[in-house]
Amino acid sequence: MSDYHFSDQYKQDATNLNDFKLVGIKSVGWESPSNIALIKYWGKHGDQLPQNPSLSFNLKNSKTKTKLIYQQKESDEPTIRYFFKEKRNTPFEKRVESYFEKIAIYLPFIKKLDFTINSNNTFPHSAGIASSASSFSALAHGLCSVEQELFQTLSNQEEFYRKASFLARLGSGSASRSIPGETILWGKSDLMKESSDEYAITIDNQIHHVFKSYHDAILIIDSGQKLASSSKGHALMENHPFAKARYQQARVNLEKLLLALKSGGEKLFAEIVENEAMTLHALMLSSNPSVSLMKPNTLVVIEKLKEFRRKQRVNFTFTLDAGSNIHILYPNKIRNKMVSFIENELTEFCENGKWIDDTISEGPIQVE
Ligand code: DP6
Repeated sequence: MSDYHFSDQYKQDATNLNDFKLVGIKSVGWESPSNIALIKYWGKHGDQLPQNPSLSFNLKNSKTKTKLIYQQKESDEPTIRYFFKEKRNTPFEKRVESYFEKIAIYLPFIKKLDFTINSNNTFPHSAGIASSASSFSALAHGLCSVEQELFQTLSNQEEFYRKASFLARLGSGSASRSIPGETILWGKSDLMKESSDEYAITIDNQIHHVFKSYHDAILIIDSGQKLASSSKGHALMENHPFAKARYQQARVNLEKLLLALKSGGEKLFAEIVENEAMTLHALMLSSNPSVSLMKPNTLVVIEKLKEFRRKQRVNFTFTLDAGSNIHILYPNKIRNKMVSFIENELTEFCENGKWIDDTISEGPIQVE
C-alpha cells in the first residue's frame, strides 16, 4: 500500500468494474459550479497532488451542465464526441479523451462505452472565468453515476462524492473542490483529520453563519485567456526560490482562515484572503519566466476597493485567480451599498462594464 490509499483501493475495485450488459442508450446529467479559492492551490507533484491544502467557496451562477449519453460498444477504443453549446469542440474533446485514458485504470468500463457529451456553461465562456473546475467536476460526477447505474457500487453518498472528487482532481486539481457543500478543503492538513490530498471534503459544519450570506461579485477586467494552461502555471513553482516558504505560508494561512471562518472574524478572513491572492500573483511575477496577469485596471480597482472599505468602515474582501479579474466577497448586509459602489464606481474599469453577480452555492446536483 502506498500513502495514497484511495488510488490503491480504486485500482483494486476496478477489477470488478469490467463486465456488464447494457441494453439501449442511457443518459445522465450533472450541474457543477466553479469555485473560488480562498487559500490557493499553486504547485503540484506526482499525479495531480497538491503541494499545500487549499480551500474554496462553491459558486452558484458560474456553473457547467454536462450530459453524458452512453451505450455499450464492441471495440476497446474510447469513442467520445464532445459538444460545447451544441457545437463539436475538438480541443476539449482531446483533453477529455486523454482524461478518459488516464482514469480508465479506475473505471475500466468507460473503454467499453461510446459517449456523446453535451456541455454548457451558464457563465459567458469569454468571461475569463475558469471552467475546468466546473467541467471536470460535472464530468466526474456523471461518470460516478454511470458506475452506479452499471454496477451499483456507489450507493453510499459519502463514497460517491469521494470518488467523484478523486476523479475530478485527475482532470483539474481545483475541480476536486466542486463537490457538495459550500466551503471545501482539498489537501492533507493536520488540522482536519478527514482531509486528504486525494480528494476534497466539505467543512460546512466549521463555518460561522456570517459567511453563509456571502456574495461574490466577479469584476471582468479582461476576458482574455488567463494562462496558456494552468499546468504550466503550477510548473513555475518547481524551481521557484520561494516554493518551500510558500507551501509553509499556505498552511499557516489555512490555520488562521479556519479560525476566522469558525469565529465569524471577518477582518481576519479579509486579511488572509487578500494575502493569498497577492501571494499568488507575487509568486507568478517572481518566477522564471515571470508571468504578470494583473492588468492596470486590476490595480486601479484594488486601490478603489481599499479606499471604499476604509471610508465606509465595512467588511469585505477580494481575491484573484491566475488572471486579472477580481472577486469581491462581501456579506449580504452590505449588498445594496456594494452593488451601487460596483455599478457607479467600478464597472468603468471592467471590460464592457461587465461583472457577474454571484453567490455561494451548495455544490453540484444531478439534473437528469
Ligand atoms: C490559481 O486547478 O486550474 O485557480 O490542476 O493544472 O488543472 P490544474 O490547475 P487548476 O489550478 C487552479 C489554480 C488557481 C488557484 C485555485 O483554484 O486554488
